[in-house]
Amino acid sequence: MGEVTLPGDKSLSHRAIIFASIANGKSIIRNLLLSGDTKATIEAFQSMGIEIEVNSREVVVYGKGLKGLTKPQGPINCHNSGTTARLLIGLLTGQDFDTTIIGSQQLNKRPMDRVCNPLKEIGCKVKSSHGSLPVSINPSTINRFTISTDVSSAQVKSSLMLASLYSDEPVVIGESQLTRDHTERIMSYLNIDLVRMGYTVTVPPVKEIPSFSATIPSDVSSASFLIALGLLTESSIKLNKVLINESRMGFIKALIKMGAQINIENIDTQFGEQIGDIEVKKSNLTAMEIEEEEIPSIIDELPIFALVASQAKGETLVKGAGELRIKESDRIEAVKDLFLSIGMKIHTQQEGFQIVGKQEIKSGSVKTYGDHRIAMTAVIAALVGGKDITPDNTDCIKDSYPSFFSDLQSIGVDSP
Ligand code: S3P
Repeated sequence: MGEVTLPGDKSLSHRAIIFASIANGKSIIRNLLLSGDTKATIEAFQSMGIEIEVNSREVVVYGKGLKGLTKPQGPINCHNSGTTARLLIGLLTGQDFDTTIIGSQQLNKRPMDRVCNPLKEIGCKVKSSHGSLPVSINPSTINRFTISTDVSSAQVKSSLMLASLYSDEPVVIGESQLTRDHTERIMSYLNIDLVRMGYTVTVPPVKEIPSFSATIPSDVSSASFLIALGLLTESSIKLNKVLINESRMGFIKALIKMGAQINIENIDTQFGEQIGDIEVKKSNLTAMEIEEEEIPSIIDELPIFALVASQAKGETLVKGAGELRIKESDRIEAVKDLFLSIGMKIHTQQEGFQIVGKQEIKSGSVKTYGDHRIAMTAVIAALVGGKDITPDNTDCIKDSYPSFFSDLQSIGVDSP
């Protein structure tokens, strides 16, 4: 039983640091997520001459304008953060210096051609190493002004949008499925005259970006772990001021269809995004199907969704989720491993999975593949099942949600 305010949303936190760094002057950001991934973004801009002060209450960024970044002394290390790497690759094509982006062993396995190829198509000089990091970036001039992405990825779209800030002419970017629209929203919030029509966004030539003061809405993806806990145990949990952007609501919408008692109140606007207080109570759930078009809005929540499905009555089917295979781990394999390790069954396909509930959760050791969302799913499974479940790595949780265990404690849950 309890109430908690989660740290800022990870996608928004990355973007807030990026835009504050290329804005003119001092920006103040409150409730910014300070996690492994967002620290990688902060350090990247510090290495390019941006002064960023991290205080307990706020982060202050002294932006130097669109062209104010300076050449870093060495390659920029994005550690495990795919968002940092992919967004920076686009942004840095507009700078007047060469850079190289590197990352951890985990990030080195993840595809970068999905951003490099469309960037090359519009004239940007980027080069990957056999499709992955390291990626080298040279000063570029955009010479083609229409581009469609063939993978449905907000990181790819955002990378192109950031590169387009430096174009002399408007750039029209199309996507095949609607993905999270935070870059669009933050650009509009900063008075950039974006035009959004259906599946396309047009980025106009931009002269300067104003500094800003903002409070980051709480992370809806981190919230999903506490929501699952609230639904599956004798509890009532309230999460304050959570991001409820439509393009991120797939998990909550699916749960409501399954019969979950979830109430969203005090709907408001913060940093150009919708927020609300989410209240969750123990519920009896029935299975459902997730179709391909819904995948982008639930992509990061699918591991914890799988656990919820295991406790719902009937057969849950997730289709068209091949993107799961190229996250921090191959999340289809990792979820399968997790299920098998705790005595549960799952049927996996190349692009999804099928789960029949209700299943009994048993004790076991879990291989996390260093993936924060797998580790947190294992912890919630232990709490729901009341079993002894030991993930092989909980340190990776710091990549997205460093206060996970203390937030659990604050609502009276002792970590397993
Ligand atoms: C993100 C987009 C998504 C998501 C990731 C964060 C972003 O990735 O899975 O955690 O901030 O743009 P894709 O763009 O690869 O789908």
